[in-house]
Amino acid sequence: MSSIPTTRTIALMNQKGGVGKSTTAVNLAAGVALRGRRTLLIDLDPQAHASLHLGVGGDLGPTAYDVLVDPTVKLEQATIKARENLWVLPALTDMAGVETELAGDNDRVQRLKHAIEASELKFDFIFIDCPPSLGVLTLNGLVAAREVFIPMQAHFLALQGLSELLKTVKEVGKSANPNLRVTGVVLCVYDGTTSHSREVVAEMDGFFEQSRQNNEPWKSARVYRPAVRRNVKLAEAPSFGKSIFEYDPSCPGSQDYGKLAETLTTEWDNLRERLTAKVTVNAVGDPLTI
Ligand SMILES: Nc1ncnc2c1ncn2[C@@H]1O[C@H](COP(=O)(O)OP(=O)(O)OP(=O)(O)O)[C@@H](O)[C@H]1O
Ligand SMILES: [Mg+2]
Repeated sequence: MSSIPTTRTIALMNQKGGVGKSTTAVNLAAGVALRGRRTLLIDLDPQAHASLHLGVGGDLGPTAYDVLVDPTVKLEQATIKARENLWVLPALTDMAGVETELAGDNDRVQRLKHAIEASELKFDFIFIDCPPSLGVLTLNGLVAAREVFIPMQAHFLALQGLSELLKTVKEVGKSANPNLRVTGVVLCVYDGTTSHSREVVAEMDGFFEQSRQNNEPWKSARVYRPAVRRNVKLAEAPSFGKSIFEYDPSCPGSQDYGKLAETLTTEWDNLRERLTAKVTVNAVGDPLTI
């Protein structure tokens, strides 16, 4: 049995609000789908921003809420095809009720993971947009994912928040998902003209470089390039229900998210190639990690 992973599952997480999680989840998902990869965007936020960003809302059938609270509702019943290669498991404001609904259940943070595993649908990429809090919804995202991306803005205060976030991921890893790794920081609303933001980025680069030798869940994390520049088109696109590539394919936001999406697919192809070679040489199979 080959243990080469077939799906790259990434949770976009930051407890701070308004940092660019949903914008990043939607546009990376759209960018990867445009590159021909079967992609699922999971919206775990009662604000439903990711769903609405792609024009998915209104009179929906079952949603992420139903999948989480009722194990008999399958992922395929609630998943909507939004674009070529792009599916959405949408949220509605009723998601806020999941917390109380699942309060007494032992497997409450495993619901999403189980639903993905039980599904017949197969994806190359899954992006999970988490709400800005560490409740049962975000925990479902962190348990279902293999990787965590932290969207953030380049401010000194954000830097402090980063160490808190890394600790949180470590704790979740210990108790509920030992394979969870922080693999990337995505810089959002970036203004490279200030020395302040450049210093913050340099500090993060240095921190992750130093972490390579440790056995922490962020030992292979990096600050992705390019940073996503501040671009008003990214703020406008959601109200038209369009990804940035549909709204304005040549704006800076399209260029930046397009390059990041390209990096994600290339990294994934390279990893799978390396693992294929390794498995061929070593039929027993090494513990395969990212
Ligand atoms: N690069 C950018 N340039 C300009 N505006 C941006 C950029 N990225 C995101 N925005 C805007 O910033 C606001 C916050 O972004 P977003 O909703 O993605 O953050 P979030 O972390 O998902 O927020 P929440 O915590 O509420 O879920 C939105 O209005 C979005 O359109
Ligand atoms: Mg959001």
